[in-house]
Amino acid sequence: MQAFVGRSAVITGGGGGVGQALALKLASAGAQVAVLDLSAEAAQSTAAAVSAAGGRALALACDVSDPESVAETTEAIVGEWGSPHLLCNAAGMQVYGRTEDFPVETWLKIIGVNLTGAFLVCRSLLPHLAKEGGAVVNVASLAGLVGLPYDAAYCASKGGLIQLTRSLAKEFSDRKVRVNAVAPGGVNTAMLDIPFPEDGDPGVLKTIPSAVNGLCEPETIANVISFLLSDEAAHITGTVLPVDGGLSA
Ligand SMILES: NC(=O)c1ccc[n+]([C@@H]2O[C@H](COP(=O)([O-])OP(=O)(O)OC[C@H]3O[C@@H](n4cnc5c(N)ncnc54)[C@H](O)[C@@H]3O)[C@@H](O)[C@H]2O)c1
Repeated sequence: MQAFVGRSAVITGGGGGVGQALALKLASAGAQVAVLDLSAEAAQSTAAAVSAAGGRALALACDVSDPESVAETTEAIVGEWGSPHLLCNAAGMQVYGRTEDFPVETWLKIIGVNLTGAFLVCRSLLPHLAKEGGAVVNVASLAGLVGLPYDAAYCASKGGLIQLTRSLAKEFSDRKVRVNAVAPGGVNTAMLDIPFPEDGDPGVLKTIPSAVNGLCEPETIANVISFLLSDEAAHITGTVLPVDGGLSA
């Protein structure tokens, strides 16, 4: 049960539903956890939950889409704990909208957080993970595997994140860093509250069976991420594992 004793983990979006569940899971298995979030309060809240459960956590405000913020945060983590061993990119955002009306600023923001953000964090932390060997899990989405309506930017960002994962897995394979992705279907977190376009056709959601039913709890995703980060997954890299109740089958 103490699979991560002596390991330091970094979780972006650690103040969110999946990120918090993962922080608690990894800490309960012995890891010390750096909780990064755009919201300092959310990061602090997760770190407090980890501490209350007897674990060790560091809360850091970080905008993953900002190279300077990522560099400063990396410096802070390494200064505190030395080079980390594990990374989960869970920071993400979603905005639904009709493509013909979709503001380019919103498109760039979504790509900036979901795709460029993961790249920036990997760029900054992978050299540290490579020192002793490590593992990365990127939180992609069913939306990276199939098309979802009114969701072009999010789908494109998550599809890109899956390809980023595969590329990095090969690039770092000789440096003992594994890089994988999970692709959740619907997860019961704040992200589900994002409004569907008012003039959108809700009928299209019937083509996505899990949009209403079949949600899972964030702990279900955290369990799978934890497995992929652990030594039990030692021979798994460059893969994208759907955690969607079979939706993408
Ligand atoms: N909830 C779902 O149904 C679902 C499904 C598939 C994939 N996902 C993915 O799971 C991941 C976790 O999302 P969640 O469901 O826990 O939602 P959430 O909204 O609870 O958590 C997302 C977290 O990311 C943080 N964040 C947003 N922009 C950021 C930035 N620029 N820098 C740092 N942090 C930032 C938010 O503050 C928030 O705490 C996301 O990548 C999301 O796309 C979620």
